[in-house]
Amino acid sequence: MSDTNSPGMSGGDAGGRSWPEYLRGESHGAAAGGPGGSSPQGGSASGAAGGAVPEGTAEPGAGQPELQGPRRRVIGTPSPTSARTLLPERDGGGVQPRQPELPPDPPDPHRARTAELIVATCFILAMVAGFGFLVAYALIGVGSLSQVLHSNLALGGCLSLVFLLLGIGAVIWVRNLMPTVEITEQRHPMRSTEAERAAFKETFDDGAAASQFVKRPLVRRTLIAATVPLAVAPLFLLRDLGPLPGLSLDKTVWRKGLRLLVYGTGRPITAAEFSSPGSLITVGPEGYLDNDDQMAKAAVIIIKFRPGQLVFGPPVEPGHPSPPNLTVPNWTVNNIVAYSKICTHVGCPAALYEQTTHKILCPCHQSTFDATRGAKVIFGPATRALPQLPIGVDSEGFLIATGPFNEPVGPSFWERS
Ligand code: FES
Repeated sequence: MSDTNSPGMSGGDAGGRSWPEYLRGESHGAAAGGPGGSSPQGGSASGAAGGAVPEGTAEPGAGQPELQGPRRRVIGTPSPTSARTLLPERDGGGVQPRQPELPPDPPDPHRARTAELIVATCFILAMVAGFGFLVAYALIGVGSLSQVLHSNLALGGCLSLVFLLLGIGAVIWVRNLMPTVEITEQRHPMRSTEAERAAFKETFDDGAAASQFVKRPLVRRTLIAATVPLAVAPLFLLRDLGPLPGLSLDKTVWRKGLRLLVYGTGRPITAAEFSSPGSLITVGPEGYLDNDDQMAKAAVIIIKFRPGQLVFGPPVEPGHPSPPNLTVPNWTVNNIVAYSKICTHVGCPAALYEQTTHKILCPCHQSTFDATRGAKVIFGPATRALPQLPIGVDSEGFLIATGPFNEPVGPSFWERS
């Protein structure tokens, strides 16, 4: 709803008058000379330019006293109460005595009485079940597992009964006691009247003229020019979809002989230095620690276990498929095992480690991997194990890779072999 005489509209070049004067003057003129002015009910007069009235109302301006006070335009569907007042008066005038629209009583009193008793019974039983809920809550403790089970059963059962009985009672009530009639509510056509449309057009034209958008081509054209880059921007986004990744997702930079450098210090590490069982550190390939693009795929965690904790499968040559759910023994050094740090779900760094349970956790969506069994998935949403990196030691005792990963790291993708 808009108040066209809003005191907030001030000043302006409107033929030497203020905007409120301008609008009032135009509205007065329309009320005197043509369609517009106030409706008999004072509820749907158009304010700014001409003032339309709902279809079917008496012709405005013909002996109608002009209403004082702010003029308001009705927008949207009026409430049923006001809709009644907006409907045309029957028989050309005078308020008709109101006739009930619905029959006050059901047609079969005997059947209605029976239904009433059933409904009342349902409601009484619902009340009893509700009290049962309260009693169960007060009396049944939750100190043990069996008590919790009994409490849940009693509380849930009582509450279910309450809603079930209320629902049954309501359905019987509606179907047997309330009238079964169809009511059609009269409504005026939703389309605005010609006068309202004309008034809107005038308002729009006035606004466009007042905005200076038409009169000042410099502003208009520079505004249009300013939006051109925005229109072209989606083309650049499309361009960023390419080029195709090729084999870059299949491989990392890990290869035989690359030392494992501690991420952060950049130092190589020996198996003897990494001797505390339960430890986990992040390492990267020698020469690539500062290469974020490569580290995004090549980050690795190494974990130290006690003897006998790792569950080994058969030995496998680097580059060959590893057995599922088992650690490859000849890819470890002194119970140190290396796994890709890139989660196989959507690629977050999986580096939370639970020492006592030997679980590797991904913080993003809680995928969990068993570090003793080839980092197999024990809780999704990841579906693939973290690939194991074959490691050994070089002549100086530093940990090195003895080959690349034998499968792509990170999230799955369509062409993954
Ligand atoms: Fe690791 Fe989703 S990215 S669980």
